[in-house]
Amino acid sequence: MHTCIFHNSKRSGLIRACLLATLACLSSTWASAQSAPATAESTNQAPTYLRDVLPIIMGKCSRCHNEQARFVYNWLDYRTAYADRWEIRRRLWDSWKGTYYKESMPIANSPESLAITDEERLIIRNWVAAGALRGVTPPPGAPKSKAEKIELGRRLFTSICAACHQPTGQGLPNVFPPLASSDFLNADKNRAIKIVINGRQGELIVNGRKFNNSMPQFPLSDDDIANALTFVYNSFGNSGLEVKPEEVKFLRTQPPDPEGPRGIPQKSPYE
Ligand code: HEC
Ligand code: HEC
Repeated sequence: MHTCIFHNSKRSGLIRACLLATLACLSSTWASAQSAPATAESTNQAPTYLRDVLPIIMGKCSRCHNEQARFVYNWLDYRTAYADRWEIRRRLWDSWKGTYYKESMPIANSPESLAITDEERLIIRNWVAAGALRGVTPPPGAPKSKAEKIELGRRLFTSICAACHQPTGQGLPNVFPPLASSDFLNADKNRAIKIVINGRQGELIVNGRKFNNSMPQFPLSDDDIANALTFVYNSFGNSGLEVKPEEVKFLRTQPPDPEGPRGIPQKSPYE
């Protein structure tokens, strides 16, 4: 499993092509095992960036395409995604169908390429075809019960977090830490909230195993983060805590944890 594609971006077209054929097949099997996200068809509306496309980009593209990435685009922002929409469509739709010669996205051999579904590729295609609308951010709802938060959080988890932490919450050895029965998660709720707010890069030990990778920062609202984490805390054998949007709001004003944030230089052991 590649952990860092940027050190290994040489491409060998032929091998990739073969791999892709296998992956396309694998991923559609995988897709059918997943619960379907809300689609353009089921709502009878053109897909919009904020409602339908951004969650796909957060889960399936952001590990490589993010603010920190120097060589590739970051589409966690609408203007950039809109400007690059045709190339996004080609790489996500036409390349997979073999009608565009450039490399399919998400890049072969990545966990994201196994996690993306046919339905998600179709949403991206329809979004571009319908004029790549931005849509609106849903207004923050009235306070919700814990059960409602868990349900909303489950959807977010499935479309975003599961691409890396896996639908079972078990993560992937050496690449993505587990959220299932995670001692790290259960030990400190504020730390977990800050990680979802700020992203995280560096070493960390979860259930006795070392990880050293990076989680991007996502453009999620306070409600979204509260719901996703409440779902996680109430699933996979975790402690059952509830996270409130007010807690997320407050922690946004606090400095990220020392070893946590992306971009803040880490002290070398020789300093
Ligand atoms: C595992 C890393 C990785 C993932 C995940 C990934 N990409 Fe990429 N992407 C790359 C790299 C590396 C390049 C540059 C190489 C190239 O152009 O083929 C690239 C290039 C692209 C380009 C060309 C950019 C341009 O306009 O020149 C598009 C479009 C693209 N990716 C779309 C996506 C989308 C959409 C997703 C998510 C559904 C995604 N990628 C997921 C690594 C990744
Ligand atoms: C693109 C991949 C990716 C996505 C998507 C992602 N994470 Fe992570 N996450 C990581 C990585 C990698 C780490 C470890 C970062 C490090 O090494 O510093 C991590 C660490 C964590 C941790 C702390 C470690 C642990 O296992 O307890 C929590 C909590 C967490 N993520 C929650 C979430 C939640 C909630 C979501 C969805 C909103 C999410 N993550 C989405 C990759 C991802």
